[in-house]
Amino acid sequence: MEYDRQKWNAKHAAKRGLHQADSFLLKHFKLLRLGKALDIACGRGRSALLLAEKGFEVSAVDYSDVGLKILADQARLKQVAIHLIELDLDQPNPLADYCPFDSIICINFKPNPELLKLIPHLLSKDGIFLWSSFNEIQADQTPFPLEKALTEKAFVDYSDLMETLIYERFTDITGARDGYVFKRK
Ligand SMILES: C[S@@+](CC[C@H](N)C(=O)[O-])C[C@H]1O[C@@H](n2cnc3c(N)ncnc32)[C@H](O)[C@@H]1O
Repeated sequence: MEYDRQKWNAKHAAKRGLHQADSFLLKHFKLLRLGKALDIACGRGRSALLLAEKGFEVSAVDYSDVGLKILADQARLKQVAIHLIELDLDQPNPLADYCPFDSIICINFKPNPELLKLIPHLLSKDGIFLWSSFNEIQADQTPFPLEKALTEKAFVDYSDLMETLIYERFTDITGARDGYVFKRK
């Protein structure tokens, strides 16, 4: 994990500015429940900042201290408050200390089974989980690793505690992707 974390630190340090917001997040933004929000694997924080600017009370979690530092600097510049959590998401249980959340988002990251199982328990009733990432078509056509790719409809019925509101397979300027919106029952 330390090797991967350092790799992400180097990637975040090498980038300038923030990417534009994820297209699936923008398309379905209105489905999010205003209130407490968690950005899982927030990176340099483009989504966390967007949510904070729209009035959400945002927590953002990642294991890259470099990404979190860039996010902290941006939050200060934009004069929004974001609660930063430095955590290895392979051991996600400490997230329970910060719940319940009204909305959880996860962009360009595939949570492990333990975190996926935990997410419904982090949400308030009717809370929303919005998730968008690259799929196996992207892995087939680019160096994106297959083990990190979402496969078609793989998570549509992933939890008895969640109702699936939306599943979409689509392509945007970043590549071939799957997106989900779930509601906590
Ligand atoms: C592709 S980036 C996505 C960043 C952000 N969600 C976005 O869309 O801009 C993936 C992020 O996952 C983080 N990450 C990867 N494995 C992790 C782990 N085990 N625990 C915490 N963060 C992790 C990396 O540090 C990186 O910031």
